[in-house]
Amino acid sequence: MGPGVLTQNLTRDRQRRSSRAMVFWVFQPLVLCLMVFCSSASSAPSPHLIFILADDLGWNDVGYHNPDIISPNIDLLADTGIKLNQSYMQPLCSPSRAALMSGLYPFRLGLQHIVIDQEQPVCLPLGRKLLPQVLQDNGYRTHMVGKWHLGFCNWACTPTYRGFESFYGFHSHSEDYYTHSYSGYSDYWFNKTVNKASSGTYSAHDFATRAEQIIGSHDPNSSLFLYLAFQNVHMPLQAPDEYLDLYQDITDNKRKLFSGLVTAMDDAVGRVVTALIDRDLYTDSIIVFSSENGGWTLFGGNNFPLRGGKFSLFEGGTRVPAFVHSPLLRNTGLTYAGIIHAVDWFPTLLSAAGILPRESPSDLDGVDQWEAITAMSPSRRSEVVYNLDYHPLPIQGRAAIR
Ligand SMILES: *[C@@H]1O[C@H](CO)[C@@H](O)[C@H](O)[C@H]1NC(C)=O
Ligand SMILES: *[C@@H]1O[C@H](CO)[C@@H](O)[C@H](O)[C@H]1NC(C)=O
Ligand SMILES: *[C@@H]1O[C@H](CO)[C@@H](O)[C@H](O)[C@H]1NC(C)=O
Repeated sequence: MGPGVLTQNLTRDRQRRSSRAMVFWVFQPLVLCLMVFCSSASSAPSPHLIFILADDLGWNDVGYHNPDIISPNIDLLADTGIKLNQSYMQPLCSPSRAALMSGLYPFRLGLQHIVIDQEQPVCLPLGRKLLPQVLQDNGYRTHMVGKWHLGFCNWACTPTYRGFESFYGFHSHSEDYYTHSYSGYSDYWFNKTVNKASSGTYSAHDFATRAEQIIGSHDPNSSLFLYLAFQNVHMPLQAPDEYLDLYQDITDNKRKLFSGLVTAMDDAVGRVVTALIDRDLYTDSIIVFSSENGGWTLFGGNNFPLRGGKFSLFEGGTRVPAFVHSPLLRNTGLTYAGIIHAVDWFPTLLSAAGILPRESPSDLDGVDQWEAITAMSPSRRSEVVYNLDYHPLPIQGRAAIR
């Protein structure tokens, strides 16, 4: 547990950068050299993109919205970044991830109805070029850690065939945080190999370790895309005792376990950002943090004051805690009130990387919001399709537009 650890590390990085700035003023003839080569730590052609996705984290489940939750690292990154106050995802896992990876609404992909089940021979349509593929085509080294949930009925559906150079994590929707198995079978992979070595290790800790390895061995001359999709805080409600001990005052057992799951993830987030600082990549990094959908109130999540939760099209199911944190931002410590949708991240990250408009599919539902967020100017989006799902059974057949 390290509340405060990241504070020190970020301070250390700021001091290092300001001492570089001092060098800048002392040696005037070197100004050009310093501007080109020395003003940033790494010499990657485009910023490193670190996308951190939390699972089932509700509006009221982060410390910066709710002081009962202990998430000092997430709070610090949010407070010193730009909080996104109207950031929408889909109400469930597979549709949200599909929107994120493709820049298209799930109803265009046939993924609008609930989620991809283990037994379903279905995946995110193979014809689409996904975000990591476009980044990879443009020189990014792309790695995925965590939960995929976009189908695995064929190898072609899985992360290393869809733009990720490496994959460390699981394919399906949920599993035990320690044994990494679901219904008696193991769902834990390193690329295409079943990963048994980490049996017994809590997934948030294990994912942080893998992210540290990726960052630690990354060639700073190339740009990194790390997609870190935590298992936390999805059910089953499992958190190591050290985190539960922090919540002795909470009498509702589910909420207590859930809160421990948040803090465990927060620790992992702190480790990942510390690794970026240690590798001198932080200065050139853009870190996006987002939940994938609203909190699941049956399993300890809380979306107050928003109505509804995971599964529902109400705000509590779709409007999620999210922020952008980066030393490259012009404005920080602010809250952006404009509307952002999951589909926007595809063009927005390409824009941040300087790849847009040179290369992007022309039929995206997403719009580039990078300038809007960084300049705090009006959102380029005036509408959101929450979902469009007709189903004859009386379950989940809902549609809504704002
Ligand atoms: C997974 O792929 C990455 C990138 O090619 C490689 O560095 C790593 O060793 C691979 N791991 C396994 C277990 O194959
Ligand atoms: C990065 O590029 C510079 C200049 O080309 C080179 O001197 C350095 O060794 C490279 N660093 C790595 C880790 O490859
Ligand atoms: C953020 O959203 C909340 C909840 O709707 C609202 O109360 C608050 O005023 C908003 N803040 C900003 C800066 O837009």
